[in-house]
Amino acid sequence: MIRFPENFYWGAATSSYQVEGGCANADWRAWEPKAGKQQSGAACRHYELYEQDFDLARGLNHNAHRLSIEWSRVEPREGEFSQKELQHYIDVVKALRSRGMEPMVTLHHFVNPVWFSESGTWGKPSCVKRFVRYCEAVVEALSPHVRFWFTINEPTVYFSHSFFWGLWPPQEKSFARMRAVHDNMNQAHIEAYRLIHQIYKNANLPKPSVGIAQHMQAVVACDRSFRNRLAAWLRDYWYNLEVLDYLARHKTLDFIGINYYQRHLVHVRRWDIGDLFQQVCQDNHHPLPKNSLGWGIYPEGLEQVLLSVKKYHLPVLISENGICTDDDNQRWEFIQSHLRHVHQAMEQGVNVIGYLYWSLLDNFEWTEGFTPRFGLIDVDFASQARRVRGSAEKFAGICRTGVLA
Ligand code: FCB
Repeated sequence: MIRFPENFYWGAATSSYQVEGGCANADWRAWEPKAGKQQSGAACRHYELYEQDFDLARGLNHNAHRLSIEWSRVEPREGEFSQKELQHYIDVVKALRSRGMEPMVTLHHFVNPVWFSESGTWGKPSCVKRFVRYCEAVVEALSPHVRFWFTINEPTVYFSHSFFWGLWPPQEKSFARMRAVHDNMNQAHIEAYRLIHQIYKNANLPKPSVGIAQHMQAVVACDRSFRNRLAAWLRDYWYNLEVLDYLARHKTLDFIGINYYQRHLVHVRRWDIGDLFQQVCQDNHHPLPKNSLGWGIYPEGLEQVLLSVKKYHLPVLISENGICTDDDNQRWEFIQSHLRHVHQAMEQGVNVIGYLYWSLLDNFEWTEGFTPRFGLIDVDFASQARRVRGSAEKFAGICRTGVLA
């Protein structure tokens, strides 16, 4: 039997664009028809149905919930803040509080307003000022109700997918541009961090906890060769730790959010700089069970990444961990096995303060559309009916007791 601490945060995570629907001023929305992918459309209509969804989460004994603010709603045109939309998010976080759930709020989760993207996006140094101005409006409005803030979700995934690999809007493929975005996002976090603390101080509110959600893969060398071990070390630094190192050095992390999904099995065939950074094993060495998107399920990897952030001596929140699958038993297995490794990391001294499953609802999975089913709650996208899955009920038992049998 495994027992988690009493004050542990248990819950699930979502992001605005993936669940709300109708994000008319978002750059992703404008890009979807051009990309020829499935469109997010009404998504889960969570914008209207949030109270019903939070009732379900409460019924599942969640005591925390991570959500994101849709910048393109709050500031649909540059410098014009919508009081109506700010009020909407005040209502959302109050709806969580009134159900006994701790709201954990992300300010940027991959999506920008169209005006921001069209005027230089994250590549232009003025983006820092723009982002911080938006943060100020949101934090001023929500600070009485919120203690946990994530400035940016998965910066490394965002800048590499959007500016280097050309997979997400604006589909650029430039190393220099990616590095500029990397630098600007670091700076944006630092300034937002300081601003958030200042706002709480001015209002005499208790100190907030501000961090980022960092995507971490368990980087594993396929064999013990020097080349593979070197590549694994480089990638671990580059994908997982570089941003955290920088922000921790600047003392602008109160906690670390970790989003963990899969293993990254390093196998480099020749000495080539591109291969060193990206080639993975193609030979099915060390095979793993997979989720419905083909990601290798590797619960021990969560322990590995948790141990790798122990050196920062900061509280750690599992801000996302989940599986897309059509087999709900596999989801329950996934949750239990990952929690066992979370607990093992805690026994080795990592201060984990909570676990948020991705996601509360089946939702819009970016370029993969609506097919992958990550939810604790099944969504019928035609009728918008919700159905709580068996795995969610079982997870609810852990959320209630803190005990994993
Ligand atoms: C993470 C994203 C989240 C979701 C999951 C499956 O990288 O933060 O929005 O798409 O993957």
